[in-house]
Amino acid sequence: MYASPPSSENARPMTVPELHARKARGDKIVMLTAYDASFAALAEAAGVDVLLVGDSLGMVVQGHASTLPVCLDDMVYHTRCVARGIGNALLVADLPFMSYRDVPTATASAARLMGEGGATLVKLEGAGWACEVIRALTERDVPVCAHLGLTPQSVRKLGGYRVQGRDERAAECLRADARAVAEAGADLLVLECVPANLAATITRELAIPTIGIGAGADCDGQVLVLYDALGITPGKRPKFSKDFLAGSDSIPAALRAYVEAVRNGTFPGTEHAW
Ligand code: KIV
Repeated sequence: MYASPPSSENARPMTVPELHARKARGDKIVMLTAYDASFAALAEAAGVDVLLVGDSLGMVVQGHASTLPVCLDDMVYHTRCVARGIGNALLVADLPFMSYRDVPTATASAARLMGEGGATLVKLEGAGWACEVIRALTERDVPVCAHLGLTPQSVRKLGGYRVQGRDERAAECLRADARAVAEAGADLLVLECVPANLAATITRELAIPTIGIGAGADCDGQVLVLYDALGITPGKRPKFSKDFLAGSDSIPAALRAYVEAVRNGTFPGTEHAW
């Protein structure tokens, strides 16, 4: 309870240019979600490079059935909590549903996540109209993480949480969207629930790093929802996740096992991919 302030087991601060350097060197990037200071500190101490305050908090922390009810105040609050727990890890925060629907709203929302929350990058879902927002944020020196494939904020339109880009036409659209968000200025791209071979193609085609979740082992890095990685999400565990606490004797050991498995390419395995 009275642990010392944010450590910094990660030797040097993680930065946006360092993410790009990691891709160039072929060194995997390890990302994990966090929603509070204590878990964020444990994740950083385990060697996690990037902490994501995901709007998944609407489901795993707040108990909603989707991420749609999460509001900007919730995101600012949890981002601030995580920021207090870390030293050198990079902090990414999700722009919640409708908080980036147009450029003025997006710039105001990003200003809150960065200014009040302490985020270094903001994450948003989609391409198409969202490219204008990515471009506007980038022009204002706001680093952006794009998110394509299964985009949970579109669950009503998608009709459920399903793998995306399975047929040839859908795969071509996803490749075009990935190029578009990179051209608009995104610094990082999360690919969620897309076939492994498609994610590998996109990863080769883009200069920016890709971070996979249910997107196979060939992405430049991996992300998991913390509660999935610890096996404490209620209900059925998603195919793409792994319970790292099973087989570890503590939460710090489980987090170290996740980091190690991503770095040495043993996670995700083929059983976690499509
Ligand atoms: O909200 C979240 O946790 C995310 C990850 C699943 C990538 O967007």
